Amino acid sequence: MAGKISASMMCADLLHLERDIRLLEQCGVEYLHCDVMDGHFVPNWMLFPDLINRIAAVSSLPLDVHLMIDEPARILPSLALRPGDIVSLHAESTHHLQRALAAVRAQGASPALALNPATPLCMAEEVLPDFDMLLIMTVNPGYAGQKLVPQCIEKIRRARALLDAAGYAGTPIEVDGNCSLENVPKMIQAGAQVIVAGSSSIFDKRLGIAGGVRALRHSMEG
Ligand code: DX5
Ligand code: ZN
Repeated sequence: MAGKISASMMCADLLHLERDIRLLEQCGVEYLHCDVMDGHFVPNWMLFPDLINRIAAVSSLPLDVHLMIDEPARILPSLALRPGDIVSLHAESTHHLQRALAAVRAQGASPALALNPATPLCMAEEVLPDFDMLLIMTVNPGYAGQKLVPQCIEKIRRARALLDAAGYAGTPIEVDGNCSLENVPKMIQAGAQVIVAGSSSIFDKRLGIAGGVRALRHSMEG
């Protein structure tokens, strides 16, 4: 599968969100990454369900909703999910991970499993049939503009090997955090296929959105 770009909406101009969405559509990004934060699971607050539903109402791009909240299943009824939308749940955020992933599928969307940098890959092993994408955090979640946790590159490689060995070669790996033009070639080489593009690339003010997408596609080619 060719690499895909998931544009991080929390890094867009929140006062001109529709303008940025139209630009992202013209540039051909594959997903709109919508971070949800509750000030508890992570020390920050971000996009709320009504805003995410408004984004879904004005764009046909699939949403890639990343839930960084405690007990994530409780927010699902508030999200107007469409087939093709992805919802990522953190293994660290619920005692009932399998049930929460199944709840995403029951709502017609694709479940993804997210792992923080310190969370071992074995957390994925018991729920392999229950997710369609594995999200490897390459920073501790909560804020844009952080530096890569370097050992996460090797973790991507081990995650790819684990999925392949278990018969899930078709399950893509997404990476989130400091996906810069410099780091992305290493991430792709290690096995990442979906890149969360934030302040390190397409929302870098020096590049602009169109220039940032062009530069990121180039760096994804190696
Ligand atoms: C949180 C967010 C951030 C951010 C990524 O999950 O997804 O990680 O927008 O972009 P950077 O790290 O490039 O600012
Ligand atoms: Zn995210």
